[in-house]
Order: sequence, then C-alpha cells, then structure tokens
Amino acid sequence: MIEVVDETGSTNADVASRLATGEYLPEGTWLVADRQTAGRGRLGRVWNDGAGNFMGSTVVRPGTGDPAPATLALLAGLAVHEAIGELGVRDLRLKWPNDLLREGAKVAGILLEMIGGVVIVGIGVNLASAPDVPGRSVAALADHGAAPGRDRFAGALAETFARELLRWRSAGLAPLLRRWQSAAHPLGTPLRVLPSGEGEVHGAFAGLAEDGNLRLTLEDGSLRTIHAGDVLLV
Ligand code: BTN
Repeated sequence: MIEVVDETGSTNADVASRLATGEYLPEGTWLVADRQTAGRGRLGRVWNDGAGNFMGSTVVRPGTGDPAPATLALLAGLAVHEAIGELGVRDLRLKWPNDLLREGAKVAGILLEMIGGVVIVGIGVNLASAPDVPGRSVAALADHGAAPGRDRFAGALAETFARELLRWRSAGLAPLLRRWQSAAHPLGTPLRVLPSGEGEVHGAFAGLAEDGNLRLTLEDGSLRTIHAGDVLLV
C-alpha cells in the first residue's frame, strides 16, 4: 500500500515513530511525501527537498535465514535502478553502496535505518529537480528529457522492490550481487573512498565481495575490502 502525505519532516522519521508506538507496518507499506522539511541523508547529512521528486520510505522485516540486513542497501539501489529503467531512462549507473549516478552526478540516494529489528528503507529520487548541494554534483532525470511522474515512479518502485525482496529471500545474495554489478560503473573505475576514522583511500573498482562489501585494487596492486564509508568517483 502506498500512503501519500502532502508535507512532513522526514518519511523515515515518521515510519520510525509509528513503529516505536507499536504500530504494525507490513512489508509492502510505503509512506511517500510531496514535501519533506527535515529529510535525512546518509552520514548525518540532510536530504534537500524538491517539488515533484520522489521521497518515500518502506519497511523490511528480516527473518532468520535471510541474507544480512545491510545488503538491503544494495537491493534498494538495484530496485531504484530497475524502476527507472522500466520507465524508459537507461543511462544510470550504481555506485556503492546505493547511489544512482547519471554522468557522475547523483540522481538518487538511499538511507537505511534499523528500529527494533525492522529495517526502514528511505529513498529519495530527483525526478523533477536537483537541489543545490554545495561541493556535490547532483542531477535530476528531467535534466535530460521527460522524467516519470512521481506517482508512476512510486508504483514502479513498489513493484521492483517487492520483486527484488522476494528474490533476495528465495535465491540469496549471489544473483543480486551479479545484477547490482552489471548496473554499476565498470570494473576498473577509479574511486576515492573516505572510510570512517582514517584518511582517503584511492583505488580502482574491483567488484563486490561475496558479502556485498566493496573491493578496490589499490595503487600497489593489493586488494582492499571496504565495509563502510563515503565513495566518490575520481
Ligand atoms: C543519501 O544521503 O544519499 C540518502 C538520502 C535518503 C533520502 C530519503 S528521502 C525519503 C527518506 N526520508 C528521509 O528523511 N530520507 C530518505
């Protein structure tokens, strides 16, 4: 079910407070806002509001036997990539863990939060407009021609997300990682990583590890696995 509100602080925060008050939100529930006044981004950043853009959150209830909840970040990125592709926009690439880029500029972002064993997946997609983010290159689908409307996109995303979730549960991580990698920038793409608590790491994209972490080939030829951090194209 897709529930739409006209304005709120943050759809992730709303879902979190509904869960905290004991409301049962089943998988397949989406909360979508026309406007967000306090949108949350990754690594404590804000997510700027933009009229006509998609801003929505859903829930996943991981069970025993499911792949690790952190891998939902990859699943969500792939679901957004597929939804946009099914609506006819094809030149977007994923960047680990789940940013969607067009010619290096960020078009979508995803924030995962966990409350009482439930994962809240918050997704922002610049359909109509790209907010100004100092120091970051951002773009909107509408910059390069007609973009899907918000409601049409929301419907497509609810479908691709549900489909990927079913596959994640039934077929495990390996097929998801293969699909993610074919939707990502090519192997060898130069990346700059800011892992938490240490300096910048430069390397070339060497694909995903079996658990979905990022692998980089460093300048000395060694392989390094990145578990968390900000990843930028060089
Ligand atoms: C990022 O920094 O890349 C993640 C951005 C996630 C933004 C979305 S918009 C809908 C949902 N509600 C929020 O407050 N944040 C997420």
